[in-house]
Amino acid sequence: MVPTTTCRVCRGTVTEFMDFGRQPLSDAFREPDDTGEEFFYRLAVGACPDCQMVQLMEEVPRERMFHEGYPYYSSGSTVMRAHFEATAEKLLAEHLTGPDPFVVELGCNDGVMLETVARAGVRHLGMEPSGAVSEVARSKGVRVRNAFFEKETALRVREEDGPADVVYAANTFCHIPYVDSVLEGIGELLAPDGVFVFEDPYFGDVSAKASFDQFYDEHFFLFTATSVRNMARRFGLDLVDVERLPTHGGELRYTLAKEGARTPSRAVSAILAEEEERDLTSPEALRSFGDRVRGNCESLTKELRSLRDQGRRVVGYGATAKSATVLNFCGIDAELLEFVCDTTPAKQGRLTPGSGVRVLGHEAFTASYPDYALLLAWNHAEEIMAKEVGFREAGGRWIQYVPDVRIE
Ligand code: SAM
Ligand code: TMP
Ligand code: ZN
Repeated sequence: MVPTTTCRVCRGTVTEFMDFGRQPLSDAFREPDDTGEEFFYRLAVGACPDCQMVQLMEEVPRERMFHEGYPYYSSGSTVMRAHFEATAEKLLAEHLTGPDPFVVELGCNDGVMLETVARAGVRHLGMEPSGAVSEVARSKGVRVRNAFFEKETALRVREEDGPADVVYAANTFCHIPYVDSVLEGIGELLAPDGVFVFEDPYFGDVSAKASFDQFYDEHFFLFTATSVRNMARRFGLDLVDVERLPTHGGELRYTLAKEGARTPSRAVSAILAEEEERDLTSPEALRSFGDRVRGNCESLTKELRSLRDQGRRVVGYGATAKSATVLNFCGIDAELLEFVCDTTPAKQGRLTPGSGVRVLGHEAFTASYPDYALLLAWNHAEEIMAKEVGFREAGGRWIQYVPDVRIE
């Protein structure tokens, strides 16, 4: 029997196409002396044949993922800081030009985008349930409310601050299974000509690159233009623009507007046609995705075991949330990786979830270069390669696994 569940968007029947098995919370880095029981859930992915939405079969309660100690700080990457500064400038120039514009951001995190808006003196509000990251945003002059965005909280914002010209979300909307509440809330909050702009990893890129580690507890949905267009329609919203982004291994930025308020751009019809041609969620496409993923995983584990048997030093680079899927699905643990280095203080000194590899600061990497580094933060490859020329010069080599396993 093929496992099924109810589609979070259209209530159709989601068909499972990939089972990653028992997985921990991707951002639950543990203290080494923590003897408490670790939380696991079944990470499996399916697609809805009715609305095309790719989604997880099981949902992890949101409070387990997003809380006071949520350890992901968006400003940790120089490239992402520049990306969000440019994004803020674009929103200011294109959508926040009226007499007293107002923008609301879902998941503003440490204020990486809103700090530019705040500096421009434009009215804004960040909705951010995770405590520690939001304190950093506040310290930058960003106005933040510690709450999950959903219909109820959206209505309160509307009551207190009036309608929003822009609602923006980066790498956050795909984290939210309760889309009905969020989109109804956005419908209430937006001004008649307002827009909801959001960017998230693109399933078209995940499929092309077999980047299976884009699936983890926090990434509940993997969107396509087709599935977003179908979803938006159900809530009286039109997909009016779409833009491809190079961030996080390939993303799409979607612009939704109230039905009939704006004319969809040519980029929308172009990508919809492209997706129809690619048929990304056909049973054959999904089966071949699964085959590639299993093949890549096997080669990666084989390579790492062989290096261990040769007595080579191998470390992981970047204790990303997505690496939880790779490490736990491929069975990569402290036997195969000496440590994982990461610049985030909240992750250092802890163990990677499920796989139990020590997380050490960046200095552990440079102090004594290993022979090999498994690039777990592959979505930041350009930035990291540029920073780590010394590693290559010292004879070190990178192990990559997206789109294929290779050593360079
Ligand atoms: N926007 C930042 C970026 O692109 O780097 C942060 C992305 S981070 C992966 C996702 C953020 O969404 C977390 O800070 C989390 O606390 C927040 N979040 C999760 N559910 C939310 C909700 N319902 N409303 C607002 N923020 C939410
Ligand atoms: P992300 O892929 O979800 O953005 O997570 C990136 C992780 O990698 C985050 O924990 C910060 C870390 N990182 C480094 O350790 N060094 C770096 O140069 C970059 C860009 C990220
Ligand atoms: Zn559906």
